[in-house]
Amino acid sequence: MKIKKAIFPVGGLGTRFLPATKSMPKEMLPVVDKPIIQYAVEEAAKAGIEQFIFVTSRGKSSIENHFDHSFELENNLLLKGKKETLKTAQEMLKIPGSFAYVRQQEPAGLGHAVWCARHLVGNEPVAVILADDLIKGSNTIKEMISNYSSGNMLAIMDVNNQDVSSYGIISPGKTLENNMTEILGLIEKPSIDKAPSNMAVVGRYIIEPSVFKELEKQNRGTSNEIQLTDAIANRIGKSQCYGYKFTNDRFDCGSKLGFIQANIKLSIERDDLSEKLKSWLKEEFLNGYV
Ligand code: G1P
Repeated sequence: MKIKKAIFPVGGLGTRFLPATKSMPKEMLPVVDKPIIQYAVEEAAKAGIEQFIFVTSRGKSSIENHFDHSFELENNLLLKGKKETLKTAQEMLKIPGSFAYVRQQEPAGLGHAVWCARHLVGNEPVAVILADDLIKGSNTIKEMISNYSSGNMLAIMDVNNQDVSSYGIISPGKTLENNMTEILGLIEKPSIDKAPSNMAVVGRYIIEPSVFKELEKQNRGTSNEIQLTDAIANRIGKSQCYGYKFTNDRFDCGSKLGFIQANIKLSIERDDLSEKLKSWLKEEFLNGYV
């Protein structure tokens, strides 16, 4: 089945990155030289997504500007003959009208953010992509779309015991082909003694329209927020729910450590930075700083 739309919840306050995020969205923080949100949009575009729905909040207008023309900049680069740089400035532009923005007026949780996009989604399955989860290598949402036929599908990965309380955790059923697992239950950020497994939900989902009906109930869950996990969990038994175990490197860019790791790893893979960064890291290591 073709999935044409993706929701990008980008309304979060980004308090873990203060003071950097006081007047700038956390999604605009760069990994090497590209904002975190652009990695997510590029992943979606390569997966065949045609409509990009952002759930924003106050203070996030630089995200809208980023995915638009910057005439002054483009004209300047054109006049100076800087063709390659101009290409970089224009590569995030998509077909006019393919980006839509809706505001989440209160920080009431991920489920609430997704629900805010309901009128733009309509009656079809939609991808949900959390830009904080930067997944490198092959395209996770594309792989999920190619395995999807109906119901709900979530990206999953194994986490350590001490980390289960930071994630949605699944109760796994049968192991299926193509890295898929049946999901029998889901619980948002459980304590380790309540966790049904160590398999965590990562920020890639395909959800069916009935999830919006669940979200409509506005039930509050963990942290007194409307949780996407709870809405999907309430559909289990009525429609299929699958976990897709991806195999790529994933960085939690919502945390400082994950953000720094993403910057180092992606810099090492860049032709223009790799050699110098590696030799500096080796030197630091030999000097006992690493
Ligand atoms: C959200 C979801 C959680 C999921 C996580 C993945 O939590 O609520 O179920 O495991 O993303 O990154 P957040 O990290 O926004 O608190």
